[in-house]
Amino acid sequence: MSESAVANHAGSSKDDLQTAVVVGGASGIGAAVSAKLASRGINVLIADVQEEQGRKYAEELKNKYQVDVAFQKTDVSNEQDVETMIKVVVEKWGRLDYAANVAGISHAESQTETGVTTALVDRYVRLPKPVKLMSRVLSLNPSLL
Ligand SMILES: NC(=O)c1ccc[n+]([C@@H]2O[C@H](COP(=O)([O-])OP(=O)(O)OC[C@H]3O[C@@H](n4cnc5c(N)ncnc54)[C@H](O)[C@@H]3O)[C@@H](O)[C@H]2O)c1
Repeated sequence: MSESAVANHAGSSKDDLQTAVVVGGASGIGAAVSAKLASRGINVLIADVQEEQGRKYAEELKNKYQVDVAFQKTDVSNEQDVETMIKVVVEKWGRLDYAANVAGISHAESQTETGVTTALVDRYVRLPKPVKLMSRVLSLNPSLL
């Protein structure tokens, strides 16, 4: 267990541990955020569309930092998936202290003018939807906030 995780666990019962959900946590920025939270003794639910990588990474962080790290397959643009994601957090830990939405939606080809396609713009326009969905689902579960 890392020193920071030990410090965080010291004197805490299992119920005292803070929890986080990281959307897009299977790779990139989300993976780094998940690792940082776990290293501080915070339970993490990694929610991502990449199931195999997400499960493997959750197991890796769980073993490394001795906190509860779980994976839930989630497409953050899908309302049902977001509701299920929050339900999993509630059932597992009964609280939610942090939520990071860092799902990657861009592609390298969008960096050139000709790479900006209608389909790509549609994906960007959908970006606020997951944020609204998460806010709405959380507002329906005020005990989590
Ligand atoms: N990495 C950088 O330096 C950088 C800089 C500026 C902005 N960004 C932006 O930040 C975001 C994340 O970047 P990254 O480098 O971590 O990307 P990444 O591709 O490494 O990771 C993104 C993660 O989001 C997941 N994801 C994609 N769509 C999803 C969905 N609908 N639901 C749930 N999960 C989904 C992917 O499976 C992946 O695990 C991107 O939008 C990127 O454009 C990144």
